[in-house]
Amino acid sequence: SDGVLVDRFGRVARDLRVSLTDKCNLRCTYCMPAEGLPWLAGPELLTDEEIVRLVRVAVELLGVTEVRFTGGEPLIRSGLVDIVTAVAALEPRPRVSLTTNGIGLDRLAPALRAAGLDRVNVSLDTLDPDRFTTLTRRPRLDAVLAGLAGAAAAGLNPVKINSVLMRGLNEDEAPALLRFALDHDYQLRIIEQMPLDAQHGWARDTMVTAEEILASLRTVFDLSPDPAERGAAPAETWLVDGGPARVGVIASVTRPFCGDCDRTRLTADGQVRACLFATEESDLRAALRTGADDDELARRWRTAMWGKRAGHGIDDPTFLQPTRPMSAIGG
Ligand code: GTP
Ligand code: 5AD
Ligand code: SF4
Repeated sequence: SDGVLVDRFGRVARDLRVSLTDKCNLRCTYCMPAEGLPWLAGPELLTDEEIVRLVRVAVELLGVTEVRFTGGEPLIRSGLVDIVTAVAALEPRPRVSLTTNGIGLDRLAPALRAAGLDRVNVSLDTLDPDRFTTLTRRPRLDAVLAGLAGAAAAGLNPVKINSVLMRGLNEDEAPALLRFALDHDYQLRIIEQMPLDAQHGWARDTMVTAEEILASLRTVFDLSPDPAERGAAPAETWLVDGGPARVGVIASVTRPFCGDCDRTRLTADGQVRACLFATEESDLRAALRTGADDDELARRWRTAMWGKRAGHGIDDPTFLQPTRPMSAIGG
């Protein structure tokens, strides 16, 4: 029953992203409509124990070495600290991280750190309070800033900031976000928006591209290529004003990194997705709840990953957005 999560193109998935809930306490316009979405029902969600079991299978039988918890918003899952504790106790110990909007992180960071969380990535698209409220439909900029500071104070380093730039909303903010990140010792990554919003409002011709992001940053900063090995990281990084500070750009659309992808995903309702843009899922929850043993779960997970496609296909004329929105996949 041995064997890693390899696909037919030879890529090996070492990095597991686990969505803990599809719910969120913000309503980012590029993600959700104001009224929210039809959330998964309670019985559809994996229990804490089911999540830990599947992560254990991934770590012990499938060679996963990195576990990232996502959402929706993972901090609103009440079992989060217990789940992190159990996952950080697995052997061999995986690295454990979290992608969050930061709300409540000031309060939770010490307990998460003690539970074994290694680091966090926090979404923050603007530093302007009015823009923040327009973008997320909630007046919570201060809570996010407090979350960032709390994470750093608790030792969840490096603290990374994820910023998605959107035309007409915050496309001019890259330099200000970088200045803020440098001042606080956070690592900024600026992200091209992908077609994953529930409302299907994404359009290639209005997307802010990596080229524009870099040009905007270069009006204020000197950027030089980062000599560090990129590996399978989504972000391409640059040294800022000679370094050691860095900035990252995640150019999923104009410079896809699918060829080096090392990700596998588990949704909050127990479906394996081989890709963010997969059109098929593999139902591990059903297997689990009908008595499958660990080897059987591992076998199904391997089969799901073998079917992973070469790339996201956003540029194909036949491209279809996945039916699940970003908030139900976990980014
Ligand atoms: P690090 O390990 O810190 O580099 O985290 P990460 O960048 O992999 O994860 P994070 O959750 O912070 O996501 C940052 C951005 O990368 C988001 O816009 C994600 O949707 C995007 N992203 C993460 N994984 C993938 C992937 O496999 N493919 C693509 N296209 N985008 C991804
Ligand atoms: N394209 C790219 N990134 C996105 N995120 C949310 N929606 C999109 C999108 N359509 C980002 C969030 C978060 C991470 C998980 O993905 O800002 O930081
Ligand atoms: Fe919530 Fe993240 Fe979606 Fe914003 S992008 S509404 S923070 S899940």
